[in-house]
Amino acid sequence: MMSASLATVSYIGATILFILSLGGLSHPESSRRGNLYGMIGMTIAVLATVFGPRVTMAGLPWIIGAMAVGGAVGLYAARKVQMTQMPELVALMHSLVGLAAALVGFANYIDPVAAHGLSGAEKAIHEIEIYIGILIGAVTFSGSIIAFGKLSGKIGGKPLLLPARHWLNLLGLLVVIVFGYQFLHAESIGTGMIGLTVMTVIALLFGIHMVMAIGGADMPVVVSMLNSYSGWAAAATGFMLNNDLLIVTGALVGSSGAILSYIMCRAMNRNFISVIAGGFGTGGGTPAKAGDAQPAGEVSPISAVETAELLREAKNVIIVPGYGMAVAQAQHTVYEITQLLREKGVNVRFGIHPVAGRMPGHMNVLLAEAKVPYDIVMEMDELNADFPDTDVSMVIGANDIVNPAAQEDPGSPIAGMPVLEVWKARTSIVMKRSMASGYAGVDNPLFYKENNRMLFGDAKKMLEEVFVALKA
Ligand code: TAP
Repeated sequence: MMSASLATVSYIGATILFILSLGGLSHPESSRRGNLYGMIGMTIAVLATVFGPRVTMAGLPWIIGAMAVGGAVGLYAARKVQMTQMPELVALMHSLVGLAAALVGFANYIDPVAAHGLSGAEKAIHEIEIYIGILIGAVTFSGSIIAFGKLSGKIGGKPLLLPARHWLNLLGLLVVIVFGYQFLHAESIGTGMIGLTVMTVIALLFGIHMVMAIGGADMPVVVSMLNSYSGWAAAATGFMLNNDLLIVTGALVGSSGAILSYIMCRAMNRNFISVIAGGFGTGGGTPAKAGDAQPAGEVSPISAVETAELLREAKNVIIVPGYGMAVAQAQHTVYEITQLLREKGVNVRFGIHPVAGRMPGHMNVLLAEAKVPYDIVMEMDELNADFPDTDVSMVIGANDIVNPAAQEDPGSPIAGMPVLEVWKARTSIVMKRSMASGYAGVDNPLFYKENNRMLFGDAKKMLEEVFVALKA
């Protein structure tokens, strides 16, 4: 077994590796290294904890058994999950962090050793840690389960807006404060458990209510917000268990998740508070109605051969990938076409919307996998002004992120969301299988624009046809 000082040094080493890991993950080029730092840091952290001074020999087999079961489930899930299911998996993982925090809180309260010898202010602080730890854990747990349900389509994406919902939340908060007071002044563990249990039930209901009220297009922010919550839940667990590494790691996850949520809100022109307060978006937007997804006009279809001709004659092309490219796994074919066009002297660039796909960085990961050079992959703000000088904008399985209604229709559910202005190119081509709406469930006026063409079919299949025609 490890000495206490060696365990502390290992914890410091792991902390440094976690910080380096976060730094590495900030850019696609350094992200592999970032992942590696994270893995090494976590291995050191787990070893230093399992073989550290606070684990007895008798407890070891239990821990190793639990790790084997948990590790096997994690390995299976990670191997089996599709790239497009990643956000669901992440939401499910967050729920486990929340559940662990809540369970540790209850165990800590009942455990006579944990509170042994504590009195006065120390006892109060210990109990406040438990109360807040369980509160954050329970909200994270139930909220993440609902987020999992929504992302996997098991629960509908429409926001559930109960009447007087803000008052309900406020009432819940008041009850939590009153029972918190009762909990801190409880004479015995038995009476303390009453306050703790009532608060847990309210926190669970609040988590469900909070995420149920959030509309489809705002879900990415919620996932990153729950990520942040899971960090704070871990930090709270660290306080309860007196584990410094857990406090630091939790705080890192908590704050980076909060920063990511803020960045995403800014990218979607959403107000963070309005997202959390629920409903579909802000700025006068209204929830998607059934009629919003009804086709409204004539569209001009185009064939793969005609698409190839347009591309061949173009000087500037911007490709905008979306969720459909991920579904079709079309990224490799997209790159083959890109290479071919670049060899012919066409300036091809990719325009990436901050929330394209189903998770932050989704398109970047896919394009990096296909080995598309980073210098032709641009963020939305970097090339949105270039569309008027573009001959062909090619939209591959994207919908909401190129919807002009966000700018043109103040009543649209996605009003105010920044979009890639593909319709400003000389010709825009939208590649998708049908006239179906995207994630937000709203119709897209882009399809009916005069300079727009629809290339119907599976993105991969259609791109392969375009590639063949281009080579011919
Ligand atoms: P969407 O608006 O969801 O549109 C994707 C389109 O791809 C669909 O309209 C679909 O049309 C088409 N498609 C599906 N499978 C295809 C295939 N095999 N071949 C060709 N096309 C296919 O996607 P987007 O434009 O990327 O926008 C992302 C949306 O997801 C936003 O509303 C965003 O808020 C939300 N969201 C994002 C995230 C993050 S963090 N990125 C997380 C959760 C939700 P057809 O069915 O007609 O083919």
